[in-house]
Amino acid sequence: MSTMLVQGGTVVSSTGRTRADVLVDGEKIVALLAPGQATLGVDVAGSVDTVIDATGRYVIPGGIDAHTHMELPFGGTNASDTFETGTIAAAWGGTTSIIDFAVQRTGERVETGLAAWHDKAAGNCAVDYGFHQIVGGVDEYSLKAMATLADEGITSYKLFMAYPGVFYSDDAQILTAMQKAAELGLLTMMHAENGPAIDVLAQQLYDQGKTTPYFHGVARAWQLEEEATHRAIMLADLTEAPLYVVHVSAKQAVAQLAAARDRGKNVFGETCPQYLYLSLEEQLGALSSPGDGPDWGDFEGAKWVCSTPLRSRAEGHQAAMWQGLRTNDLQMVSTDHCPFCMKDQKELGKGDFRAIPNGIGSIEHRLDLMYQGVVTGEITLERWVELTSTTPARMFGLYGVKGVLQPGADADIVVYDPAGHTAIGVGAGRTHHMNMDHSAWEGFEIDGHVDVVISRGEVLVADGEFHGRVGHGRYLKRGLSQYLL
Ligand code: URP
Ligand code: ZN
Ligand code: ZN
Repeated sequence: MSTMLVQGGTVVSSTGRTRADVLVDGEKIVALLAPGQATLGVDVAGSVDTVIDATGRYVIPGGIDAHTHMELPFGGTNASDTFETGTIAAAWGGTTSIIDFAVQRTGERVETGLAAWHDKAAGNCAVDYGFHQIVGGVDEYSLKAMATLADEGITSYKLFMAYPGVFYSDDAQILTAMQKAAELGLLTMMHAENGPAIDVLAQQLYDQGKTTPYFHGVARAWQLEEEATHRAIMLADLTEAPLYVVHVSAKQAVAQLAAARDRGKNVFGETCPQYLYLSLEEQLGALSSPGDGPDWGDFEGAKWVCSTPLRSRAEGHQAAMWQGLRTNDLQMVSTDHCPFCMKDQKELGKGDFRAIPNGIGSIEHRLDLMYQGVVTGEITLERWVELTSTTPARMFGLYGVKGVLQPGADADIVVYDPAGHTAIGVGAGRTHHMNMDHSAWEGFEIDGHVDVVISRGEVLVADGEFHGRVGHGRYLKRGLSQYLL
């Protein structure tokens, strides 16, 4: 067992900041010490195996990305990051735990889907990992299997009101699953978009020759996110099931969440960096070469096809997401990391936006993108830590071990340099480790830098180099959400 001192930095938590040195023994934090050379007469820095200099920098708990899709089979292809490539990229960006979605599709058994996910991940991760369970076919077997999930360390599951024929559940299935979840204390995660209505609009647009990626955003109208969010809230209310709405992008959906929370309901919402920074006009309507072109762009916009979709900046959705994060109407920021290359993957939808695999890759950039919100005054430093680490730990049954720097917690530590700089993108001198042939974040500049990343006492990233190893990452058996009574 080796010892380590992270020395000279400012430790930032969800509730405050203080100058302190973090003492690590093996995999665990054992003390936060007043800064200085000697503690009770002992030269701590001189006694440990490794000293990490954090002078002038922030020392924060490792990031927890609670929404990722490694190797997800979707849209006729598989998400391009494996657990290996995706968790290495996560480490580069200061994320030391992920929660990925194990998949059960209609007609399959939950147990089979879950076993397949364990096979994909085991021994292949550079950071710690847990699972949620996608229940893509609510039937007598999956309802039975839900009862065994908590024992497996899976205390949350996802239903889809979108994607008919793939993962979709109708209202009767949702109601039944929520009743079961309420009985078991599981957290219901909801993809809240009215899928059948979207499919009609998408077909109509296609028939009118409106086939470019921009129309993915038009078909997935905000009204259909608001309506589904409201419906999910009411079904949760009726069944007394706690509800967590994933990848919220419409300001009207935030209003639904806020209203339910104001009524005292156990309802939570997550947004993602893409809904804070990117838009229908600028990204889904992008042109492959600069110059004049139609407002609805060309196939370039495929890089940003995801669901829920990027929304209109003119309508103010991005500003509303930041506001929701400040007011706690939205509690968390995850990436919904679901990367696809342009070549051979997004290209499947050339000439038909409906066939573009849905997803954006961001796992590497979440901490940086959210830190930029601190720089621009959208959120505080403490809220940054809360949104990216502490609340995810509390929400998904990891708190105490993860999400906080305190004695007894895993030594998952990020040293973040507010005087550093990060240039995001695949171009020379820029940062990109995800297994993608493009970056959805090309050209983004961050006024900060992830300097050192430590996972359970092992240095994963330092001095601009990856020192981690595949197989270091362990399966996280999660407890119940701390936000449930
Ligand atoms: O576009 C997305 N979000 N792809 C991943 C699947 C999902 O709905 O989360
Ligand atoms: Zn979804
Ligand atoms: Zn997702």
